[in-house]
Amino acid sequence: MTTTPIAERTTSVAARATDLSKIYGQGETQVVALDQVSIAFRQAEFTAIMGPSGSGKSTLMHCVAGLDTFSSGSVRIGDTELGSLKDKQLTKLRRDKIGFIFQAFNLLPTLTALENITLPMDIAGRKPDKQWLDSVITMIGLADRLKHRPSQLSGGQQQRVAVARALASRPDIIFGDEPTGNLDSRSGAEVLGFLRNSVRELGQTVVMVTHDPVAAAYADRVVFLADGRIVDEVYEPTADSVLDRMLRLSGGTPQTP
Ligand SMILES: Nc1ncnc2c1ncn2[C@@H]1O[C@H](COP(=O)(O)OP(=O)(O)O)[C@@H](O)[C@H]1O
Ligand SMILES: [Mg+2]
Repeated sequence: MTTTPIAERTTSVAARATDLSKIYGQGETQVVALDQVSIAFRQAEFTAIMGPSGSGKSTLMHCVAGLDTFSSGSVRIGDTELGSLKDKQLTKLRRDKIGFIFQAFNLLPTLTALENITLPMDIAGRKPDKQWLDSVITMIGLADRLKHRPSQLSGGQQQRVAVARALASRPDIIFGDEPTGNLDSRSGAEVLGFLRNSVRELGQTVVMVTHDPVAAAYADRVVFLADGRIVDEVYEPTADSVLDRMLRLSGGTPQTP
């Protein structure tokens, strides 16, 4: 097995959008949801996307994840240009290369935790890498819950199952739209910790939409959207530095302690 040098690993790009625009409707009802957005998501980096409601966060995530079409520009996952793919190829790329975590856990109630975790791979007819799966399950602390059904698990545990499901196929990139939006702060902190560990320890690439500065502080960088454009970016964020930027961007004055 060959290993990639760290320097190379940290500079390779898992996904990229270039001059990405998404326009809904026409004429007077036209909405520019994304206005020529260019952004790269580097491998083994955890990015949080923030911005006011309606700023284009979900649209950006959905377009880069191949869940939605765009009006102009381009999106690449690894070396693959999404615009060049037919529907079937896009479905396959989504299944094989991309993991998703939603606000609603989206687990199947009749399946056990383990069956839920391996379901996407079962559908794809792929055998999970046993060692990888074990390390994911251990990291997420679910080893003694694998035979439980979702109804027998707390919300936090269910979302941990959903995180394990996203990680199981070792996707090139994981997207989460408000993945902690339905969790209490303690369960949310656990899930965010696991996402961060998957980046630090397993080299995963994670992109997460959130409106919560505390959640964003788990990321390596925070990208701020407003009116469909990237307006700011913070590396090594803290909840305070994120809140400060949010206030500044909204025209408010940061509070002095
Ligand atoms: N299906 C749609 N039809 C028309 N406009 C839409 C649609 N989806 C989103 N929009 C508009 O696009 C903009 C960005 O939406 P969205 O990406 O959902 O924002 P966010 O996730 O940041 O709240 C908003 O103005 C929203 O009203
Ligand atoms: Mg949204």
